[in-house]
Amino acid sequence: MAKITASVYTSHVPAIGAAMDLGKTQEPYWQPLFAGYDYSKQWMKDNTPDVVFLVYNDHATAFSLEMIPTFAIGTAAQYQPADEGWGARPVPVVQGHPELASHIAQSVIQQDFDLTIVNKMDVDHGLTVPLSLMCGEKNPKTDKWPFKVIPFAVNVVQYPVPSGRRCFQLGQAIRKAVESFDENLNVQIWGTGGMTHQLQGPRAGLINKDWDNAWLDKLIDDPAATAQVPHIEYVREAGSEGIELVMWLIARGAMADVHGGPKPKVKHRFYHVPASNTAVGHMILENS
Ligand code: DHB
Ligand code: FE
Repeated sequence: MAKITASVYTSHVPAIGAAMDLGKTQEPYWQPLFAGYDYSKQWMKDNTPDVVFLVYNDHATAFSLEMIPTFAIGTAAQYQPADEGWGARPVPVVQGHPELASHIAQSVIQQDFDLTIVNKMDVDHGLTVPLSLMCGEKNPKTDKWPFKVIPFAVNVVQYPVPSGRRCFQLGQAIRKAVESFDENLNVQIWGTGGMTHQLQGPRAGLINKDWDNAWLDKLIDDPAATAQVPHIEYVREAGSEGIELVMWLIARGAMADVHGGPKPKVKHRFYHVPASNTAVGHMILENS
């Protein structure tokens, strides 16, 4: 049986990827941010899964206003890092897991979530920056990512976006899907994006430390209550792009305690401002 062993949560600011690609991680601005991921890189080496189910959002890269799936699962064998205007990031190609992804698609759709199935797409900073933060610098010619990835794209860019409640329920369906896969696989689920940020309008640059940290506390202790936070609260308190946080609820919904199991162990928690316009939040939760 495949098993969800842990969930990882992290912001995905594109400038973090650029800082890594351009060798700026030790500059005074960036050093404290990257220091917050030292533990995580070691943890990743000690707890390398077979597959990461990576919940992220596409930023009008693979999708556009022409086509806006609410929830899209990648069933391809490979995904190329996207060119977002400055050329593709110099990171390895992302290897998929078509068998597990197809199984999850079948199971989750039969649990009444209408997923879009994607057999070809490039993956943008929403997916590659979390990989870089957790795995460190990788040479696209000589290195590989240490696990396979199932990309799961959520529309949090163009309204209407899904509710936290729907995302939390979807995470629960994903857990059932993973646990009904026959092969013994170690699977992690990652929720990415957030925390507070607003990139446009009069409130551009908004950061709300108190709200972010209270939300993290609640995500750990009472995820079902966190799932009830209405969409308008994210916009008001966390800024227009803070809505990316609903993706963390998909990962949280797949953890054992939501299904009658024990509480997860908080292995790591980190919060840092600023990284570009964003408050960076990061957490590792392990199922016991
Ligand atoms: C920034 C953050 C994001 O989540 C994003 O998708 C783009 C930019 C930023 O803070 O610059
Ligand atoms: Fe984003």
